[in-house]
Parts: sequence; structure tokens; C-alpha cells
Amino acid sequence: MTFPRDFLWGTATAAEQIEETPDSNWQAFVSDVLKNNRFESIGPGEAKPGHIRNLGAWSKSVVFRKTNFNEMYTEDLAYAASLGNNAYRFSIAWDKLFPREDMKEPDPAAAAYYDGIFAALKKNHLTPSVTLFHFSTPAWFWREKNGKRGWERDDALDHFERFVRAVSARWGGQVHHWCTLNEPMVFLYAGYMEGVHPPLEKRKRMEDVIPVFTALLKAHATAYKILHEANPSAEVGLTMHTRAFEAYRNYAPLDRILAAKVEQAFIWDLLDALQSGTLRVTNTGYSEEIPGLKGSMDYVGINYYGRHYILSDITSPKQFKVLMADKADLSERINELGWAHYPKGFHDILVETFGRYKKPIYVMENGTADSSSNDYYRQELLVTHIAEMGRAIGEGVPVKGYFHWSLMDNFEWAEGFEARFGLVAIDYEAGFKRTPRPSANVYASIIKDGIGPELYKKYAVLYGEK
Ligand code: BGC
Repeated sequence: MTFPRDFLWGTATAAEQIEETPDSNWQAFVSDVLKNNRFESIGPGEAKPGHIRNLGAWSKSVVFRKTNFNEMYTEDLAYAASLGNNAYRFSIAWDKLFPREDMKEPDPAAAAYYDGIFAALKKNHLTPSVTLFHFSTPAWFWREKNGKRGWERDDALDHFERFVRAVSARWGGQVHHWCTLNEPMVFLYAGYMEGVHPPLEKRKRMEDVIPVFTALLKAHATAYKILHEANPSAEVGLTMHTRAFEAYRNYAPLDRILAAKVEQAFIWDLLDALQSGTLRVTNTGYSEEIPGLKGSMDYVGINYYGRHYILSDITSPKQFKVLMADKADLSERINELGWAHYPKGFHDILVETFGRYKKPIYVMENGTADSSSNDYYRQELLVTHIAEMGRAIGEGVPVKGYFHWSLMDNFEWAEGFEARFGLVAIDYEAGFKRTPRPSANVYASIIKDGIGPELYKKYAVLYGEK
């Protein structure tokens, strides 16, 4: 199995997870967590609202500097290129360019820092893919104004627009590929319903979250317009967190019905809105046409992280559980966060996405938490998932690029520094020392030679595919 010559192979990162971000809302949350010793979790992969798992165990320097990318990006990006990567996905931190609310122009030192990153990308022949909102924002954005905070503020879009214009003016000439929003549905659920990410709210019903949902869609439409005015041939889109949602008990009709509903609500409602221009929210009867939204996707971004099961309760049909894995299925590969790998679901999502929207697809994230030095699960994930992506391409799905999450270990939100997603391991307390895991070489070999029968057989055994 080989891949198109112009295929983009890369890794993905986000500013908040790897860089110093002293003025972000996440950093404000981190400071509050440290001050109040809120370091618990329900279990790996199950965050406790208001807490960051085991954060107190790390030195201030690690918590503040994350991976020390600020000082080490030259070597990190050169290393990515040495794996045969020709692209790199990252985010530009709004909070670094505009650390204060009243600023009209971006902070010169922060802009110069990103100039340095762009220069390193150029030097290493890495095509940039730039994300504008990857979960974090300036802290000041959450100050209450007219009783509203964050994306719900009346002036939210004006501020976001200023940021997007500044990014476009300074780096637009070097960027062809843009991602306006990373996983908006995760931001909504984790931030406004589960309360495990800032703003740590627990609104009860989907209806209560719709003002944030529509604000994000407006932000996307605004960015789409600005970036296209600056460069009509730019590729602008956003990326969705996807899972294969399946019935826990295939024989239970309600599990199956609810699994399909959850999939529609979590993945397709938003993309359908980008296609049609009207947001319709599953199970709410809500419908609103959003100006500038229709057709505002040049590609569809897919982040894929495995399988979730839906378990219903016939005595209360509106309640259901989302299980991260089937613990009774001994053949299921479960990662350190309790997530179930499911390569076939990746193929199916790609096929379904193309069938619905007929747009090019970029895989903007795919990866797993595996902290071991012989990261076998990550190697297996790479081979089996890229093989499934290749199968979809063979069937005519125009997948144009794959970005592995992530280049190196990083700050995994409410999981703190515990979950390890890196092709490269970081020894945080030993000067942020980088050590590539074996999967880095597996990725390099796939990029160079594709996936041959030997490589495939070595890793695909578990899935019964010879
Ligand atoms: C996010 C990343 C995150 C990764 C692993 C995605 O939900 O975009 O920021 O680190 O998954 O959890």
C-alpha cells in the first residue's frame, strides 16, 4: 500500500499544550488548580471537574513551560522533518498575540516568536497547517461583559476578527492550509456540560449550550471570509473529534438508535450546518440560518480516536451511558486513558464523511496514549489506522493528508502531564530531554515505503486480518 506523492504527512500540536502561554484562560485555570491543590481524577481518562490530574507532582517550571518548545522548536521541527514529514500542524495562540483586551496590534515579541517557527518550518520544508482556536483563548476574554463571558460576549466576534486579521496579515503569505476551530463539540461538551475544561460549566440541556455553538459557527464563518479575501485559493476548514459510536449490545434496538443519534449530534450536526448554512440541533427542534456559513468548508478535518459504545436503559429511554471500551472483549486494544482502538471505524468515518460532503479530507489528528518506551500500541495504531486510511483512499475517498497526534508528549488538558501521546518521549524533569519512541521509526518507514505485507502482518494480527 503506497500513498499519493503530494500527500501531506505530519504531526499535530497545539500552542497551549507545548508552549508557554502565560496569559491564556487555561493558564489561569492551571494557576487556580495549583493554588487550591485540585489534582484528583476519577480515573485515567475520567477527569474530575475543576481538577487536573496529578498536576501538583510537577515543578513550576514544567507546568509553565510545558514541553519547552519555546526554546527547543528548532530541534523539534528538524526532527519531524528527519522522519520524512513534509507538513506540520500547530496553533497560533491568540492569548500570546493579544495578551490584553485593549491591544490593537499583536504583541511584537510573540509575533517574532511565531516568525521564528515559520522560518524553521521553511528551512525544514514543512508545509504549515495553522489552527486558530484550539480550546484556549486569552484570559481576559472570560471577564464578564453585560453578564456574558467568552464566546457569548457581544464583542466576542470583534475580538476574534482582530486576531484572525492580524494572523492573516502577518503569515497569510506563507499559509495555504487553515483550521479555524479544533473540535468545537469537545469544547462545548467538556467546557459547558461536563465542566472538566474551562469555563467549567455544567449546563443541563443541549439547548443551554446553543448560544456558544452558534457563536463558534459565526467565528468560523468570519475567519473563513477573512482568510479567503486575503487568499482566494487558501484551503480553509475546521476539524471534528470523531469516534465510531456503536451499540454496546447489538441486539438492543435502543442502543443502536441512540448510537446513531449521538453520532449525528456529535459529528454531523455541525458539519451539516457548514454545508447547508443552517444549524439544526438533534433532539432540540432548534434551527437557525447563520449568515456566511453555507459552503464554508474547503475540506473536512477529521480527528479520529477509536470506538465509543452507547448503553441505553429501557426504563428511562432518554438516559444512556457512553462507554469508552468493552472491558468484556478481551481482544479489544485499550489505551492508558481507557479508550478502545478501532481501526476499521477510521475507514468507515472517512467513507461516510466523503459520502456526505464530497470534499477533500485531512486527518488532522489520530494517535493514542502509550507511555512505554517500547510503545507497541502506538506502533500498532499507526500501521493499522494508516492501512485503513489507505483502504478508504483506494475506494476513492480523497484523503489529502495525515497528521499524527502528537509529535511529542505534552500537556494533555485535564489529564495534565500524565497521558503520553508523543512519537517522542519527554523527560520533563530532566531538562525536557527528548527520546524518540520506536513508533517514530515506524511512522518514518510508512512515509518512505508505504505499508507492505510484512509490516501489516506484524501489527494487524489482533484484528483478525491476515
Ligand atoms: C485534541 C487534542 C488532545 C488529543 C488527545 C484531541 O481531543 O484536539 O488537543 O490532546 O485529542 O486527547
